[in-house]
Amino acid sequence: MRLLLAPMQDVTDLAFMRTLHRIGSLPDAFVTAYFRSTPTTCALAEHNLRCIDENETGIPVLAQLAGSDAPALLRDAAMLLGRPGVAGINLNAGCPSPLVNRHGAGAGLLRELPRLAAIAQELRRAIPPGKFSIKCRLGWENASAEFPAILEILAAAAPDEVGIHARTRRQLYGGTPDFSYVRHAAATLPCPVLANGDIATVQQAADCLEQTGAAGLMLGRGAVRNPYLFRQLRGGPPPTAEEMRQYYSILVEETGRVLLHKRTEKGHCNRMKKYLAFCYPDFTAEEEFRLRRCTDIPEMLRILEHKTAQAPAPYPAEYNYCSGN
Ligand SMILES: Cc1cc2nc3c(=O)[nH]c(=O)nc-3n(C[C@H](O)[C@H](O)[C@H](O)COP(=O)(O)O)c2cc1C
Repeated sequence: MRLLLAPMQDVTDLAFMRTLHRIGSLPDAFVTAYFRSTPTTCALAEHNLRCIDENETGIPVLAQLAGSDAPALLRDAAMLLGRPGVAGINLNAGCPSPLVNRHGAGAGLLRELPRLAAIAQELRRAIPPGKFSIKCRLGWENASAEFPAILEILAAAAPDEVGIHARTRRQLYGGTPDFSYVRHAAATLPCPVLANGDIATVQQAADCLEQTGAAGLMLGRGAVRNPYLFRQLRGGPPPTAEEMRQYYSILVEETGRVLLHKRTEKGHCNRMKKYLAFCYPDFTAEEEFRLRRCTDIPEMLRILEHKTAQAPAPYPAEYNYCSGN
């Protein structure tokens, strides 16, 4: 079974990748959050590039592109493939952000299928075998009306792997993923199909694999809340309370390491809240309230480590904050 960390802008970043590595719970590949590819911009977002250039985990990274202009996508795919850390290119055909969709990118490609077909085929021609994948949703509005045509486009473009978030753009992140479409894709497409959407436990993973016949899974929010899910899906044990506490404290440390000289204490806390947003269900209402308001790292560590009933370890002295914002 192939396991990928699903891309999540500002969440499944370099600090999170390094944290997974340190806790020894790893996917087969990481996917970066999307690089926005437009005709006028060829600057690739620095924080995303760091996921590639500073990834010392040994786990391959697929660079994701979101765009609607074929020449720009080809240009940026070539630029990314020129970097030694890039194991492949992933085309984003699922992002529901109105800002991105307004320009026809992300899930916007599902509203303009001829464009999706042309882009997918051009990228296929340009990208070496084994290095091109697509991540999509079931359609813009209506899966039963739209997914068959999307499937035909995927089949014609012949990517090396397809990840399917089993929702339409209209559903955003709500409602229940409909894995019957993933089953159809897995039975139809010649390449491996990975199922994605709301898989947060070993049982949900097993049910999804059985229901879809997919070659693997992409895990996003569930892996942020329980980063040991990758280990569990490879037959390892569930995390102990102590391991979860280690996770939070390693994540604080790695987030500080990535922020480096730009770090302010408030900024560091705010970065942590991007991950914690998906972990709050594991905290009491009072802890969540305090975490959400927290602007100092020792206090955040005290809350995160509260469950140890021990004095929290002092925050490493080398992490000093700069004074600005
Ligand atoms: C905060 C956030 C950021 C995301 N950023 C991206 C992204 O950059 N590219 C992408 O393809 N999907 C992105 N997604 C969608 C996820 O990759 C995934 O498809 C979705 O969350 C469903 O999977 P999950 O239930 O395992 O999280 C994002 C989701 C969230 C919640």
